[in-house]
Amino acid sequence: MAIRHLAVEEILTTAYPLRAYAFGGSPGPVDLDELRRTWLPYQEGNRTLVAETADGVAMATATGIPMRQNLRGRVLPMAGVASVTTHPLGRRQGHVRELLQRLLDEMRDEGHLLSTLYPFRPSFYERFGYVGLAAARTATFPVADLAALLRADLPGEVRWTRAGPGYPEYVAFLDRCLTGRHGFAVFPGYRQVRVRDDDDRWLLTAHVDGVTEGLLTYRIDDHGGTLAADDLLAFGPLARTLLLQFLGRHVDQVERVSMVVAADDLPELWLTDLGVVCETRVTRPDHAAPMARLLSMDALDGLPAGAGRCRVELTTDRWLAGTWLLDGATGHLESRPHSTGDSALPVATLTAAGLSALAYGVLDPAELVIRGLGVVPPDAAVELRRIFPRDLPYLHANF
Ligand SMILES: CC(C)(COP(=O)(O)OP(=O)(O)OC[C@H]1O[C@@H](n2cnc3c(N)ncnc32)[C@H](O)[C@@H]1OP(=O)(O)O)[C@@H](O)C(=O)NCCC(=O)NCCS
Repeated sequence: MAIRHLAVEEILTTAYPLRAYAFGGSPGPVDLDELRRTWLPYQEGNRTLVAETADGVAMATATGIPMRQNLRGRVLPMAGVASVTTHPLGRRQGHVRELLQRLLDEMRDEGHLLSTLYPFRPSFYERFGYVGLAAARTATFPVADLAALLRADLPGEVRWTRAGPGYPEYVAFLDRCLTGRHGFAVFPGYRQVRVRDDDDRWLLTAHVDGVTEGLLTYRIDDHGGTLAADDLLAFGPLARTLLLQFLGRHVDQVERVSMVVAADDLPELWLTDLGVVCETRVTRPDHAAPMARLLSMDALDGLPAGAGRCRVELTTDRWLAGTWLLDGATGHLESRPHSTGDSALPVATLTAAGLSALAYGVLDPAELVIRGLGVVPPDAAVELRRIFPRDLPYLHANF
């Protein structure tokens, strides 16, 4: 089986049929001209690989999207992995294992220090060094429960437009979230611009002292129906309340509001008398929580860290290997290869997924042991807890 890159024009005839079979209803009519116009432009800068038989039949495909992600305050190049698919006659023959290795090799060589994806089955990707991140939740509440906000005098204003004309503001605010929020990831421009081109959402922004502090995109399904919002993005309670106040003015128009909130958001504390249902849906294979991994130890350098010191021995992984000294004494993490024995130094043995779990702030060192992601004696756990305090990432981008 030969692996090669696809030029963007080839994607429709080579990779697309495999993706369509794996991720959609089928068989059905395929309108290539329509796809060329409405879908292909947003694939342009992606790295799409295909594994082919000697006579040119595509057996498997995988795509890397060059994204950016905030890891504990540092914005790093991140490889978003998407559209991993094997021909139904070629499954369980090792094609995807080979493709993923090649894709991540290439994305890493290009400078991507992190990678994230949405798995069909987390255990499949755990073997590739990925660890689960928290899933976003959907909060649903009656719009009438926002009544108390209607007459509130809040020091700020909201602006309302469609996503098309509001796109520059949308991009600017997402960039601000990227620098300000751990875990936040954004698409490259050629992909993000789809929000402008589709122009199928309302765009609401909250402004405080002339600065955009909150943003919400949404659609309304029907009169008396649901105002369905995407992710609630707000720096602080004032911006969030300005957005909610605006939604409250739809009391005679829709019955309920639904919105996506971060795993550590607590809508039940937003407002007295707000009856809210928060749902986290993680099912296989259709509703996945994201996963992430470090692709290089360079991702750790300079991260804000507590004053801990630990030797970390990494078990076999294609991209993370060796023995490292992690030192947070200066308040910024230093990682360097460490071969000399120092009996005073606590030592942990970690898988790539285990180290990624600590770096992303999703698991405690004690949980790594229980989950089979490392051997962490109590003294090493104390140091690693100092270096990597828990900090729930919020990915935002869904692909
Ligand atoms: C899931 C899928 C991509 C796997 O592709 P594949 O080419 O069959 O995978 P490989 O043969 O390279 O398998 C790699 C390893 O994962 C294992 N594996 C494969 N499918 C698995 C599954 N469903 N669950 C758990 N492990 C699996 C294989 O046994 C193999 O293990 P090994 O290296 O120890 O031998 C393929 O079945 C598919 O296209 N499914 C439909 C679309 C889909 O779900 N895509 C994933 C989107 S995230």
